[in-house]
Amino acid sequence: MKTEEEMNVSENATVEEQETVTLDRRRDVSNNPLCLSGRAVTKIFGSGKKETVAVNRVNFDFHEGELVSIVGESGSGKTTLSKMILGLLPMTDGEILFRGQPRDISTNRKKREYWKNIQAIFQDPFSSFNVFNKIDTVLLDCINMNGGKDLPKEKKIEMMTEACSFVNLKFAELTNKYPFELSGGQMQRLMIARVFLLKPKILLADEPTSMIDACSRATILDMLLNLRDEIGMTVIFITHDIGLAYYISDNVYIMEHGFFVEHGSADDVILTPKADYTKRLISDVPKIHEAWDLSTVE
Ligand SMILES: Nc1ncnc2c1ncn2[C@@H]1O[C@H](COP(=O)(O)OP(=O)(O)O)[C@@H](O)[C@H]1O
Ligand SMILES: [Mg+2]
Repeated sequence: MKTEEEMNVSENATVEEQETVTLDRRRDVSNNPLCLSGRAVTKIFGSGKKETVAVNRVNFDFHEGELVSIVGESGSGKTTLSKMILGLLPMTDGEILFRGQPRDISTNRKKREYWKNIQAIFQDPFSSFNVFNKIDTVLLDCINMNGGKDLPKEKKIEMMTEACSFVNLKFAELTNKYPFELSGGQMQRLMIARVFLLKPKILLADEPTSMIDACSRATILDMLLNLRDEIGMTVIFITHDIGLAYYISDNVYIMEHGFFVEHGSADDVILTPKADYTKRLISDVPKIHEAWDLSTVE
């Protein structure tokens, strides 16, 4: 794995500049149409003495163009909820609504239809790629999947070049490379380039910056926000880090032991927390009310 420096990729803005820019980009999305809602969404693993209620009757409303974070410590149920939202894990109980209508993924065909609307970026970008596929194949697949199969080759190259430059990567330098030849930060940027080409309604990002260095992290977060602005999609950001959630989110949901203990705008929840759990998460972040130093984020 190479470092950003070795690949000679420039990161333009400093961390401080990006922080100001990002906080300015919070939005009030409460009047936007609903994109994804959950009603009493529940997941119980096992039974009897071995029963674990991983997600316990949670309700949520995510709007179009919203950047919403789900924040909780390890084991609080974030990944289980993500998998249900993605349609990868059946719910024990409850209902998920997509654009106000009950989501139907009862057949493979309906599932594939739903998956056109939702994309995911995971913690470990390397797990998301077939290691034998070159980078251009990864991007070409997105164009083909998104109805661009019959476009002329030149148009496809133009689209891939645009997607790469959106995330500060040079397509010409990547065409013959394999995923393992990139750094972690570059891989996550490639994931974002994929989303740029696929233009889903919803992007679910589960701890996407936890395996990369602080500088790349700021860049990735900035690019996620650019993508939200560009496509107007809903971004569901999953994190254990309440400082990070404050930094990027319009709204936050706080998750403890499978429950949402409170939710609201990032400012309301984090500057005037009501639940003891939220207060405890905040007290673990020493400087949340002051200018937030990205280098301290785990
Ligand atoms: N496949 C599974 N079988 C049994 N228990 C599980 C399974 N997946 C997760 N859990 C349990 O569900 C709870 C929530 O886990 P998870 O959703 O991974 O939390 P988080 O992503 O917030 O760390 C944990 O107690 C975990 O042990
Ligand atoms: Mg998890």
